[in-house]
Amino acid sequence: MASCGQGTASQDQGTDEVNKRGKAMKMTNIVNGPDNVSRIIMGCMRMPALSVDEAAGMIKTAHELGINFFDHATCYGDGEAEKRFGDALPLTGIRREDIFIQSKCGLHFDRQEFDWSRDDILMCVDEILERLQMDYLDALLLHRPDLLFDPEEVAEAFDKLHTSGKVRYFGVSNTTPGQLELLRKYVKQPILFNQLQLSIEQSQLIDGGLYLNNMTTDMSINRDYGVLDYCRLHDITIQAWSPLQFGMFGGCFIDHPDFPELNAALQKLADKYGVSKTAIAIAWILKHPARMQAIAGTMNPDHLREFCDASKVDLTHNEWYELYLASGKFLP
Ligand SMILES: NC(=O)c1ccc[n+]([C@@H]2O[C@H](COP(=O)([O-])OP(=O)(O)OC[C@H]3O[C@@H](n4cnc5c(N)ncnc54)[C@H](OP(=O)(O)O)[C@@H]3O)[C@@H](O)[C@H]2O)c1
Repeated sequence: MASCGQGTASQDQGTDEVNKRGKAMKMTNIVNGPDNVSRIIMGCMRMPALSVDEAAGMIKTAHELGINFFDHATCYGDGEAEKRFGDALPLTGIRREDIFIQSKCGLHFDRQEFDWSRDDILMCVDEILERLQMDYLDALLLHRPDLLFDPEEVAEAFDKLHTSGKVRYFGVSNTTPGQLELLRKYVKQPILFNQLQLSIEQSQLIDGGLYLNNMTTDMSINRDYGVLDYCRLHDITIQAWSPLQFGMFGGCFIDHPDFPELNAALQKLADKYGVSKTAIAIAWILKHPARMQAIAGTMNPDHLREFCDASKVDLTHNEWYELYLASGKFLP
């Protein structure tokens, strides 16, 4: 892959291409951020279940499929995901500089609090780097808002991390437009990413815009303050987490008996494009003009291959709606 170099706010953003290893992976350039990163990210939340050798196998498979972007968080297995990755990467032959490694901080379930204070962010990054056995992160995301966050403290922490070379780029996760405005007022570095929950079944991120003012459905309730449009307006790339799950970690909807209509619609298009239902469900996310990234959570190489096949599919406008409606939504 080409290196994850500094990009510019150019029209190149969002360019899809067949990457240099000849795999059909959709790539994108992030405005004010790295060029040539894969639109499919490998999420490492479930990696603690693997041995080091198995983790190395998954990382290699992901890389061969054209994925060059890996997502972590301090809380995944209480640091075990980062540790497993750090132990496994040297076994893969993949060079550190050829992949984009992101982690998140701020969640402290052990202490029953979220924390975006300056000192906690700085301490977390040092611990992340130690577990990953690396000297820099490509991106640091603040995982979920600390209700007591002070944007000036965040700005101080980001400055220190950036000037010391420990973190190249910054972002957030599960963060509202108002919180983003506050951060952007003080933080000097661009906020590149907002990681948010989105699947075809769990699609509140998208639904709000359709049911405005409609008293007949709860889908008109604005639960996210218009974060989709805000991110698009401010060139913040959305990373869709749990893209195959229903509810909050309710399970995978593919082949699930509670979603017969959705699975039938996915199967129809899977047959048309010669891919799996998983690929179609992810192609539905990639089709959105916000040019989101989708984070794969599977630790099964065959499932990951199916997931990456999404890159080969360009759904039509009408097919996108067909799937949306099959997931239980309606045209008001
Ligand atoms: N920012 C946040 O707050 C937040 C929250 C949650 C997650 N995340 C990130 O998002 C990533 C993805 O989350 P997720 O793991 O919930 O995503 P997912 O890709 O929607 O779900 C993966 C799960 O579905 C299972 N699965 C069952 N059938 C499958 C099939 N046919 N194809 C693929 N998977 C199938 C997988 O099991 P197998 O392993 O057996 O395939 C795995 O347990 C995480 O790794 C993490 O990086 C972020």
